[in-house]
Amino acid sequence: MTEAVHTPRVFSGIQPTGNLTLGNYLGALKRFVEMQASGVETIYCMVDLHAITTWQDPKDLKRATRELAAGFIAAGLDPARSILFNQSQVPAHAELAWVFNCVARMGWLNRMTQFKDKAGKNRENASVGLFAYPALMAADILVYKATHVPVGDDQKQHIELTRDIAAKFNHDFGVEHFPLTEGVIEGAGMRVMSLRDGSKKMSKSDPSDMSRINLTDDADTISQKIRKARTDPDPLPDTLAGLDDRAEARNLVNIYAALAGMTPDQVVAENAGAQFGQFKPKLADLAVAVLSPINTEMARLMADPGEIDRLLGEGADRAAAIAEPVLEETLDIVGMVRSRRR
Ligand code: TYM
Repeated sequence: MTEAVHTPRVFSGIQPTGNLTLGNYLGALKRFVEMQASGVETIYCMVDLHAITTWQDPKDLKRATRELAAGFIAAGLDPARSILFNQSQVPAHAELAWVFNCVARMGWLNRMTQFKDKAGKNRENASVGLFAYPALMAADILVYKATHVPVGDDQKQHIELTRDIAAKFNHDFGVEHFPLTEGVIEGAGMRVMSLRDGSKKMSKSDPSDMSRINLTDDADTISQKIRKARTDPDPLPDTLAGLDDRAEARNLVNIYAALAGMTPDQVVAENAGAQFGQFKPKLADLAVAVLSPINTEMARLMADPGEIDRLLGEGADRAAAIAEPVLEETLDIVGMVRSRRR
């Protein structure tokens, strides 16, 4: 059978839990905006169904979803050029996820490191949803037959699983229905680490707020967090190789590079011999210059939640128009009778 050619289409999602972090921005959001400019159809989702795999206060969830939408738009996503919506408004995601629950194998999901990290020691008490989460993520992507998914490095394993699910589905039913989606994981920002511990990723669920920069932080808070970021006493080396065993220093260089649109090599070359006492204020100024306008625009958008809801509803209508026919075709392939008049 010849490989079907799938039209390029970009999909990605972010969970509306807690604040957007600099990691979300550099690893995902900033690249969503770049892809929007590339001429390919771009679909971006606030994945509220994923959020409830761990407990969410209902009021906080609604607020976080609207705030995430404000963050998307403030960062440069245009609801007229990209499809922006919240996942639960397009039921096709959850319906396809059920089919994928029956395609994915227990052994595959058992290997997912994110489940192990999030469930922690008390696995018996984790929700079934948290375990099945990667099958829903595969459905998010494949219900649009998306070919490219921009994500941070921590989502790589889930993208590989999405390919495994697509390949098994195609094989089991003898079709070339789903594409083998590629993750777009690149650049200095693909793995932003904690400001307190260079071996942990920057995360919105870290108990220490000093470990991360939130997109809602004001200029003083951003500067203070960068000034207090953990480093070592040595100056910056002449070459990137000199940062091999210096995780915290390497992280600040990477953040600078991603914010400035430079490579880490260029940053090191430009700052060779600088002490962190000099480099940190420079980084803080850069971070404030990039993030402050986003922060201000988010606050402005949040003043009109009704308008955000309207935009999300409109985005969901456009998303559903693509997803529903793919779901219908999928259910037909699986052998479900489709006889409703639409
Ligand atoms: P989430 O909500 O944890 O994170 C959203 C995006 O931000 C990236 N990211 C980072 N990148 C670099 N450094 C960091 N410290 C960092 N922290 C987070 C993530 O890699 C991600 O790209 N399962 C996904 C959401 C999802 C999804 C999807 C993504 C659901 N369905 C379909 C793509 C396609 C998640 O929990 O991301």
